[in-house]
Amino acid sequence: MSRSYKIAVIPGDGIGKEVMPEGLRALQAASQRFGFQLELEHIEWASCDYYAAHGQMMPDDWKARLSDKDAILFGAVGWPATVPDHVSLWGSLLKFRREFDQYINLRPVRLFEGVPCPLAGRKPGEIDYLVVRENTEGEYTNLGGVMFAGTEREIVIQESVFSRHGTDRVLRYAFERAQSRPRKQLTVATKSNGIAISMPWWDGRADAVGQDFPGVRVDKQHIDILSARFVLQPERFDVVVASNLFGDILSDLGPATTGTIGLAPSANLNPERRFPSLFEPVHGSAPDIYGQNIANPVAMIWSAALMLDFLGERAAHDAMLGAIETVLAQGPRTRDLGGRASTTEMGTAVATLI
Ligand code: NAI
Ligand code: MG
Repeated sequence: MSRSYKIAVIPGDGIGKEVMPEGLRALQAASQRFGFQLELEHIEWASCDYYAAHGQMMPDDWKARLSDKDAILFGAVGWPATVPDHVSLWGSLLKFRREFDQYINLRPVRLFEGVPCPLAGRKPGEIDYLVVRENTEGEYTNLGGVMFAGTEREIVIQESVFSRHGTDRVLRYAFERAQSRPRKQLTVATKSNGIAISMPWWDGRADAVGQDFPGVRVDKQHIDILSARFVLQPERFDVVVASNLFGDILSDLGPATTGTIGLAPSANLNPERRFPSLFEPVHGSAPDIYGQNIANPVAMIWSAALMLDFLGERAAHDAMLGAIETVLAQGPRTRDLGGRASTTEMGTAVATLI
């Protein structure tokens, strides 16, 4: 039976519109080589241009229009500045994450040959890990409030929410990822010394879920020293799992240690595939370089590769990653990597090798 996937393609704003064609070029090459079909639906909404014309980021029936998709490939949202960032973000990406229950935020962190490493003396192979962030609850809630506002007695309370369901499912996903990797090592980010209720409980859930994964070595580290080790001893890590807040911080810190943000991919996953998952570069719309065809397309192409891996096309993912490796090592390279190639030249070079 032929394999076919329904993909919503949403370039969004700014350089999202420049890197998306390179993601699609690579996908096209992979589909030809590996014999699967992609049914692409190109979508103009979830962008600030759409907002300018309609006063909202997306049509009212956005959910129904995306629900039959296997995945969403997303560029970037935000800009022009006439639309405030919180409006563009909450009106699009955060709606996808919440309403499609994309409870895993996955960011691979890897140092490639040919990419100058901000950490002195590090070689490719020494930085190669996955950050798994809980994406729906934890510290990011709107529960709480302000009492005696504006007076000296002012009190502010912001609650964190850790459900057993929400915690176990992200831990289980992280254990499964660790089990499937050669090193089989899982670092659990915690702060059980300072956050004395939820974090010891989180550690206990890691022990409970870990019962099902006897082959995985577990290492619990306090978030403060863990952050320092991302910089000082990155070779210690294989898979790292963290709550929403800790994961948010780690998943920016990790990619910052491996070169330009133009390389960093991400996946927002609903692993059961009850809803579409979303794949996007970590970077935003980069208004400072938009319109010049100089953005690095690798984060977009790698995100597209993560999408194929999630859909079951592992060989196609590996071929795309291999092509990225070769181009980073040999060129052509965009300006953020010290080269002079355009977005199109670099994207074409990757696609040609797939
Ligand atoms: P940004 O990621 O757009 O840009 C930060 C810096 O990195 C800029 O100097 C930019 O030129 C550079 N850069 C980013 N991507 C690059 C690439 N592919 N190749 C080469 N250089 C690259 O973050 P910034 O400037 O804070 O935000 C700009 C807009 O993007 C804002 O409206 C913000 O809200 C939005 N944003 C959207 C995100 C998303 O859609 N997921 C994520 C982050 C920001
Ligand atoms: Mg962040």
